Amino acid sequence: VGNIKVNKRVAVVGCGTIGAGWIARLLLYGYDVSAFDRDPETAAVCEHTITRARAAIRELGSVLPDEGTFQFANSLTQCIADASVVLECLPENLDIKKALYRELESILESDALLFSSTSGFKPCVLGEGLAFADRLLVCHPFNPVYLLPLVEVVPHASCSTEVQVLCKEMLTSIGMRPLMLRHEIDGHVADRLLEAMWREALWLINDDLATTSEIDDAIKYGFGLRMAHMGLFETYRLGGGEGGFRQFLAQFGPALQWPWSHLTHVPELDDALVDKIVKQSDEQTAGLSQQQLVARRDASLIAILKGLASSS
Ligand SMILES: NC(=O)c1ccc[n+]([C@@H]2O[C@H](COP(=O)([O-])OP(=O)(O)OC[C@H]3O[C@@H](n4cnc5c(N)ncnc54)[C@H](O)[C@@H]3O)[C@@H](O)[C@H]2O)c1
Repeated sequence: VGNIKVNKRVAVVGCGTIGAGWIARLLLYGYDVSAFDRDPETAAVCEHTITRARAAIRELGSVLPDEGTFQFANSLTQCIADASVVLECLPENLDIKKALYRELESILESDALLFSSTSGFKPCVLGEGLAFADRLLVCHPFNPVYLLPLVEVVPHASCSTEVQVLCKEMLTSIGMRPLMLRHEIDGHVADRLLEAMWREALWLINDDLATTSEIDDAIKYGFGLRMAHMGLFETYRLGGGEGGFRQFLAQFGPALQWPWSHLTHVPELDDALVDKIVKQSDEQTAGLSQQQLVARRDASLIAILKGLASSS
């Protein structure tokens, strides 16, 4: 791979929740985007998401370049023509993703990069047998992509430093905070953390100790508020007072021995537990449509992002 340059043209393949979110962010940060989905109805999803993202970004007060152009292509070939980055946002299904990669092998520009949004597949799995694996990087975003800056980047082992730097620069240029992973690991970093909390939450429901609504309250009115600004380690550092982290560990370290956690095993997600979670979640959000919940989420995220910007 030599002389790869990222131009301002990106192709997005798969226009569901994540693809549409990428498209909106890219456009608003001045990239020309061409999109393709086998379901033409998703063109409307994209337009809707772009409108929502435009309002959200305006509300955030970010200074942005002129918006890029958007085109919904009729075919994969038309979509990826001249694009220096192809962003794959297909369902989390290895066969579907690999089928696309095989198609790309004969039509991808020789210097184009392929970013996969996959939540779970490692680059070694996605890139197995692929001729252009040295241009494949997992770029795992968070929903809604147009508002949340984090993207976990996992380059295929054969990617050069040049390719990794280009990827990082491109993601930074669209207002993201790339977390470059040092190794391919299951769950990357953020999902490893979330998995731990998710598992405990399932136990609390399974054992009838808390409902979905009580668990959400425990997060959003408590540690979630401070975590949004300070993460885990800065937050706990304050818990140690003037003695800093050493004091915190001396104080709370021994608690790790207490039998609080079920983390070593997982509750069985059987029908009874699934029904219980669904029933509680339905009660929790009764009367609110998906669109109303999304609007409420975006308004909260904007307020938090504004706070984050003013305190950092
Ligand atoms: N949803 C999330 O919260 C989230 C977060 C981070 C990463 N991801 C990852 O992003 C990827 C996409 O997830 P999503 O939630 O947007 O999925 P989705 O099901 O909402 O969207 C997938 C889209 O791909 C289209 N599609 C399927 N096969 C196709 C093909 N062969 N060619 C063209 N289009 C095709 C579908 O019509 C659909 O519109 C997954 O790998 C997922 O793991 C999802």
